[in-house]
Amino acid sequence: MKNVNPVSSLQSPATMLVLCIESSCDETAAAVIRDGREILSNVIASQVDVHARYGGVVPELASRKHVEAISVVINSALEEAGVCLEQIEGIGVTRGPGLIGALLVGLSTAKAMAWMLDIPLAAVHHMEGHILAPMLEDAPEFPFLALAVSGGHTHLYRVDGIGKYRTLGQTLDDAAGEAFDKVAKLLGLGYPGGAVIDRLAQCGNPEAIAFPRPMLHKPNCDFSFSGLKTAVLQHVNKYQGVNKCQGVKKCQEPIDEQHTADIAASFQEAVVEVLTRKTLRAAEAEGLSRIVVAGGVACNSGLRTRFAALSKKHGVKVVFPSPVLCGDNAAMLGVPANYYLENGRHADNRVNAVSNWTLDSIGVD
Ligand code: KG4
Ligand code: ZN
Repeated sequence: MKNVNPVSSLQSPATMLVLCIESSCDETAAAVIRDGREILSNVIASQVDVHARYGGVVPELASRKHVEAISVVINSALEEAGVCLEQIEGIGVTRGPGLIGALLVGLSTAKAMAWMLDIPLAAVHHMEGHILAPMLEDAPEFPFLALAVSGGHTHLYRVDGIGKYRTLGQTLDDAAGEAFDKVAKLLGLGYPGGAVIDRLAQCGNPEAIAFPRPMLHKPNCDFSFSGLKTAVLQHVNKYQGVNKCQGVKKCQEPIDEQHTADIAASFQEAVVEVLTRKTLRAAEAEGLSRIVVAGGVACNSGLRTRFAALSKKHGVKVVFPSPVLCGDNAAMLGVPANYYLENGRHADNRVNAVSNWTLDSIGVD
């Protein structure tokens, strides 16, 4: 987050200040973006502690927490940016995909504000925000390949420009982040688990356990992670001696700390190998030399290191947003929102939230 002197925000001529609002899952977020490029503020209120005790996001709780937080978060974003509401010239908001109740809190707030201030509204696809987030930093040129890896998505997109996306492949079952979270849960590491597995993996041996590499040898761009999660479960059960007939757990050989770290490292290695190799193959097939890796799982240190090593060998440039722009945030909506507002692609005030929405169908209702 960045504090900007209110006077300096007003000085540069012909600027466009956009307020962005994101509430698709368990983060209530607001940001003020200047000209679709400069982050004046980026405020995120996480609900992670609320959901942790349930081992995952509880949709109804998420909606209620968004209702409680949204005004506070928007006011903080304006204050940090040093701008007042009357200076905002447009609003960008996540329309979907996500939890419908959660989305409706951000979208209803954005619609009400746009109507009250008589300014245009841009309805943005959540994944569009994720994959364009690097343009707030070291802008990659179009076209590029985007690997979007989060709690709900593992998608490969060809990106030819803002609003020009084609899905090349996606997970057939669990998303990569979901697999990280489920494996963390079964190892007793809490929720969300991606960052914990990442840290633990650094003390483990990635070759200790030969977990499967799902879909690696299939010549398409699809992924699958549920079998890998089951392989981890079977490994854990083998060591904990789960007796299915009697339904009792006999601890034959307890899984100690080092073994847990080895499981984490070996699981992460399997995910990283599949993601990197399939992405590089897709880039080659599409003739693309630039790759963007985005979404919460793009924080993963193993994924970053492997892509950095392989990019030289494959002659491609791989761009990761800074960690604060990888997880859910509102600043990432700034690039597409600004573009749509400037190009007159305003959302109608009757626009509704959509829980399932493919990026390819943007602009098609
Ligand atoms: O993009 P995001 O914040 O929310 C969604 O749109 O889903 O992604 C959240 C996901 C969670 O599954 C979380 O465990 C995962 O990103 N994640 C990580 C790491 N940090 C967050 N996965 C692996 N390694 C990390 N360091
Ligand atoms: Zn996300």
